[in-house]
Amino acid sequence: MTRHPFPASFKFGAATSSYQIEGGWDLDGKGESIWDRFCHTPGKIEDAATGDVACDHIHRWQEDVNLMADLGLDAYRFSVSWPRILPAGRGAINEAGIAFYDRLVDGLLEKGIKPFVTLYHWDLPQQLQDEGGWTARSTVDAFCEYADVVSRRLGDRVKDWITLNEPFVSAFIGHWEGRHAPGAHSEQAALATTHHLLLAHGRSVPILRFNVQEASIGITHVLHPSHAASASEQDQLAAQQFDGLLNRTFLDPIAGRGYPKIVPYDRAILESLVQPGDLEAIAAPIDFMGVNYYTRRVSRSAAVPEVENDAQTVHVRDEQTDMGWEVYPEGLFELFERLHRDYDFTSYFITENGAAYPDELDSGGRVKDIKRVSYFRRHLEQVALIIENGIPLHGYFAWSLMDNFEWGYGLSKRFGLIYIDFETQERTPKLSYWWYRDVIRGRSII
Ligand code: FCB
Repeated sequence: MTRHPFPASFKFGAATSSYQIEGGWDLDGKGESIWDRFCHTPGKIEDAATGDVACDHIHRWQEDVNLMADLGLDAYRFSVSWPRILPAGRGAINEAGIAFYDRLVDGLLEKGIKPFVTLYHWDLPQQLQDEGGWTARSTVDAFCEYADVVSRRLGDRVKDWITLNEPFVSAFIGHWEGRHAPGAHSEQAALATTHHLLLAHGRSVPILRFNVQEASIGITHVLHPSHAASASEQDQLAAQQFDGLLNRTFLDPIAGRGYPKIVPYDRAILESLVQPGDLEAIAAPIDFMGVNYYTRRVSRSAAVPEVENDAQTVHVRDEQTDMGWEVYPEGLFELFERLHRDYDFTSYFITENGAAYPDELDSGGRVKDIKRVSYFRRHLEQVALIIENGIPLHGYFAWSLMDNFEWGYGLSKRFGLIYIDFETQERTPKLSYWWYRDVIRGRSII
């Protein structure tokens, strides 16, 4: 029996981010971002690639919008590049940058595709980094200025806003592990970044609400079910601590509960950054919680807990994607059951879900990405279950519309529904694209 779990109002989408697809890193007045600087520093990116050109979306956006329309997308999630709009992070506006997003938004609306704008997907203006970046409280004000400019200019047409993408990753992978820009290695910096990002989110919510009539505003977190490797007390504690780090540090303050107690970092540092009124600001009412889901985390105890210490991560199942991430579809339902039970968010979107596989064009010029279809199918089954259980999940965005620049891995990891030949920029829809098109058309899993 075919299931038809997706109501007509459910949004099927695909997602991208500015640095990963746009290119044009110094085009038409754009300022330098921390990712430009990071990628131009030898040794930072695995295959020495950069996002200088990426998918050249800045020039090929019309072709990309046409591909979205053929796919039948209800919605498209993309991010705005802060230094393309405010090259110095604050102050002078780069009109050419605004004009690009104006055209893109109009192009989407012409095709009946709803734009979901993410304000910050990690490409901080380098000039702000030179003043301390997210470790400096003044960056919160700069973000509010940026959010004000973008929402005043696009808010007549864009109603769906995501303030931040995955503050966990910006804070801990960018500032503690240093695998991402700006490449710091400091617990203090990671925790200051955490607090200032969340404060920037909270402070920008009322600005967006003021500028945009009928706005729907949320934030996107990457969430992981956190499991213990065994029933031992130490492993159970490790799992709780990682739940504190990966999930609760970012969910609890948004829900008005302040920062969690059981965490693997020095809580005193985080608490010392909180000024009167901060926690109230962070808890500004939002319209939806955005969830990125890729895998779970299975932990065992270690003398010194670290953010991503492989010795502490156990792969329970053999099936992994090209990122080495365990494929664990049922974690999606588990996560939403928990969100629905433990928090009172009124609405949800899955703002990213997808898998990297080493795709290749076959002799007929096609990409038969059967594993990706299987990944999506099994995760959409979980989406169906979430909806059938009455949890208010209103949309699903596949990561990603097209192969792109995968951060520290450069161009070597392919997540797209569309294959990109990075030499010629030719776009080839993969099997998963045609499969997803039929899912969207039939509003059922095939
Ligand atoms: C998420 C990021 C996104 C992409 C996917 C694979 O953490 O938000 O930009 O890199 O992972």
